[in-house]
Amino acid sequence: MDKLEITGGACLSGEIRISGSKNAALPILAGVLLSEETITLGNLPHLHDVTTMIALLRTMGVEITMDAEAGVEINAGNVNNTTAPYDLVRTMRASILVLGPLVARFGRARVSFPGGCSIGSRPVDLHLKALQAMGAEITVTEGYIDAVCDGRLKGAHVLFETVTVGGTENILMAAALADGTTIIENAAREPEIEDLANFLLAMGAKISGIGTSVLKVEGVERLHGCRYRVMPDRIETGTYLVAAAATRGSITVKDTSSSYLEAVLLKLEEAGADISVGEDWIKLDMHGRRPKSVNIKTAPYPAFPTDMQAQFTAMNAVSDGVSRVTETIFENRLMQTHEMNRMGANISIEGHTAIITGTEKLQAAPVMASDLRASAALVIAGLVAEGHTVVDRIYHIDRGYECIEEKFQMLGATVRRVS
Ligand code: EPZ
Repeated sequence: MDKLEITGGACLSGEIRISGSKNAALPILAGVLLSEETITLGNLPHLHDVTTMIALLRTMGVEITMDAEAGVEINAGNVNNTTAPYDLVRTMRASILVLGPLVARFGRARVSFPGGCSIGSRPVDLHLKALQAMGAEITVTEGYIDAVCDGRLKGAHVLFETVTVGGTENILMAAALADGTTIIENAAREPEIEDLANFLLAMGAKISGIGTSVLKVEGVERLHGCRYRVMPDRIETGTYLVAAAATRGSITVKDTSSSYLEAVLLKLEEAGADISVGEDWIKLDMHGRRPKSVNIKTAPYPAFPTDMQAQFTAMNAVSDGVSRVTETIFENRLMQTHEMNRMGANISIEGHTAIITGTEKLQAAPVMASDLRASAALVIAGLVAEGHTVVDRIYHIDRGYECIEEKFQMLGATVRRVS
C-alpha cells in the first residue's frame, strides 16, 4: 500500500496547473448515458474515481476511447446492461449518479446501494424519493436499488428537505428526458452542478435557473451528442492555496478560476494572505508571515465548502491564535484532528466543532489517512512539521488529487511516494 513521505520546513513557492474537477467530471460522465450520440469530454482529471466511473460505464456497454490530446470520446448508443454492480459501487459512492440517467433513458436501473464512508452515513433517500415523485418504482432488495418506470419519467415538483449535491444532480439528469416540466426547489448550488447543467444544455436540454436554488427543466425526448470541457477543480485549487498559506509561502495556481472560491479566498485573506487573481490564475503571497487563525463554519455553496474544512484545520494548527472549525454537513468529518494531535497539534473537539490553539510547528509522525480531504490535510500538516511525516493509506488521496507529489515537488516541497 503506497505511502507519502513528507519532509517539512519548506515555504512553498512557484506555480502549478490545476486539473479538471473530480466533482464535475463524475456527474458529467454519468450524464453521457442520456444520449446515444457521441460525446467528447476535455479536461477530465486522471484520478482513480474517474477511472472507476469509466470502468462502470464500460460494464454497461458504453464505448470509451481515451485520447490524451482531444479528450475522451464516449458513446452510449449500445448500452446493454443497466446494472451498477456492488464491486464497483462500494469503491465509489458517486456511482449512484448513474441511477437517474439510466431510469430516464432506459426505464430501469439496478444500482448497488452505496454504503456510508468514514465521514458519514451518506444516505441516498432524497434521491430515491424524488425519483418516485417522477414516477419511478423503487425497491431495495439484497443491497441493490431497483428502479423501474413504465414509459418516460414524468416531470414533477421536487423540494429537497436537505440541500443535496448528488440528489440535485441525479434529478437534474433524470428531468432532462422526462415527459413534462420538473421544478427542483432547494437545489444545491455548487459550481459542479452549474457545470453539469451547462453540459446538459450542450446536449440540447432545456434548463433555467442555473446557479440558483430553483431549477426548472422542460424534458425533451432525445439529447444529442456534444463536445464539452470540464471546469477546473476548485477544491484542488483551494488545497494548494491553503498549503502555501500554512507554509508561509508564495504560489500561483493556473488553469483555474477564482469565481467559485469566494468564501475560501476571503478566509485566506483573513488569515493574512495577499491574494491577486486573473482570468485563469490565482496568486497567494504570505510574505513569509505566519498565518492568523480563522474561524470556519461549513455550509452549502456559496458558503464555506465542507471539502475545504480539513485543509484549514491543518493551517489553523500552526496559525497564530485560537480558532473554531464547525462541520455542519457531515456527521464525522473532523477525524484528521486526532492524527494532527499526534503531530503535536493542540485541538479539542466539542460536538461538531474543533477548537484549535495554533502552535509554531508540528512534529513529524506516522499518520493514517481516513478520507480524501483529511488525507490532503495530513500532507499539509507534514509540510509544516519538523522531520519526516509518513502518511499511510494514500489511496484516498489518489481518488481526488492528480499527481499530488509531483505538484508539491514543483512548489519546492520534499514529498515522495514510497510503497
Ligand atoms: C458531494 O457529495 C461531493 N461528492 C462531496 O465531495 C461533498 O463533500 C458533498 O457533495 C457536499 O458538498 C461528489 O460530488 C462526488 P450531499 P454528496 O448529497 O452528493 C445528506 C469530496 O471530498 N443527504 O450534498 O454525497 C448527507 O448525509 C467529496 O470530493 C441525505 O440525508 O453530498 C449529507 O449530510 C466528499 N439524503 C448532506 O445531505 C440524501 O439522499 C449533503 O450530502 C442525500 C444527502
